[in-house]
Amino acid sequence: MANISTRFFGLDLKSPVIAASSSMTGHAEQVIKLAEAGAGAIVLKSIFEEEIYHELQEELSLRSEMYSDPEYLDYFDYVIKDENIRKYLRLIADVKARTAVPIVASINCVSSSDWVLFARKIEEAGADALELNMFICPSDVSKTGENNEQFYFETIHKVLQVVKIPVTIKISHYFSNLAGMVQKLSQSGVAGITIFNRFYNPDIDIQTQSVVVADVLSTPNDFLMPLKWTGILSGISVCELAATTGIHSAETALKFILAGASAVQVASVLYTNGPSVIKKMNLEISDWMDQKGFQALADFKGSLSQSTTSAQAWERVQFMKYFGEKAF
Ligand SMILES: Cc1cc2nc3c(=O)[nH]c(=O)nc-3n(C[C@H](O)[C@H](O)[C@H](O)COP(=O)(O)O)c2cc1C
Repeated sequence: MANISTRFFGLDLKSPVIAASSSMTGHAEQVIKLAEAGAGAIVLKSIFEEEIYHELQEELSLRSEMYSDPEYLDYFDYVIKDENIRKYLRLIADVKARTAVPIVASINCVSSSDWVLFARKIEEAGADALELNMFICPSDVSKTGENNEQFYFETIHKVLQVVKIPVTIKISHYFSNLAGMVQKLSQSGVAGITIFNRFYNPDIDIQTQSVVVADVLSTPNDFLMPLKWTGILSGISVCELAATTGIHSAETALKFILAGASAVQVASVLYTNGPSVIKKMNLEISDWMDQKGFQALADFKGSLSQSTTSAQAWERVQFMKYFGEKAF
């Protein structure tokens, strides 16, 4: 049977199929089911920067003279009062005690402010790695692209100063030079980059003429955009890449590995098919490898990336002449 082990989060993983952060990964029992189903790693539901920030604010206003010190937590081991944060740390410790599958904590962040100090609490609770879900919606006309990009580097720098566990980032595609930005981010000390986070998008109901909540789950057709960028970016990034969005089957997961991803992160398919879908995906990946004569993921990972195939195939943006002329 083919070996489907891989590396992501700076860790050895038994499978390239990772349970992505979602409400499915916010409860110990579900996390254990995902681990038993064969997930390579589990990214816990994100804790929000704002939750941490409120917790810290009170303490920081009392200790303002210490708060710019990066060693702050060495001097001042603040008391966690907020129940949500305590629960989060308990969840990490609880699932770590019950499974050997790597457990990755996650923080949703939109600034590089004081919350970064909390990262050490996550490390102390036993998380194997930390994923930062980073996103600034580029809708503020008073901010330049440079202002927005600075947030990424500042945040990574500050978090890396306070923890020793590997730190990875999950990013969007909203950059004016995505390839250049991913290359620079991959050199910033992070252990991996996940492309791309899927954010809530509103819809419009034409009957009530109001803005409504769009479907939060992806469909199996949503994978093409991240696939294209995996193909382009895998040869550019100096750290490992994982892909997320629209990966609902082993077949799609294999496409991402051929394009150069080290792993895939899945969420929607866990809601529609349950945790056992991971076991099925692992088996089907391994069966395909056996059929093709591959013994390890490294035998075919990136074999269809832009750096090993034609640049044109990955970078074509306009519809080809053929599609333009064909009557559908
Ligand atoms: C209900 C739900 C909650 C999610 N919550 C988070 C979250 O807290 N943090 C995060 O980084 N991503 C979150 N995500 C995004 C997923 O981790 C994943 O990257 C995204 O849904 C794309 O993968 P998919 O197409 O397999 O769903 C959430 C997704 C869903 C569907």
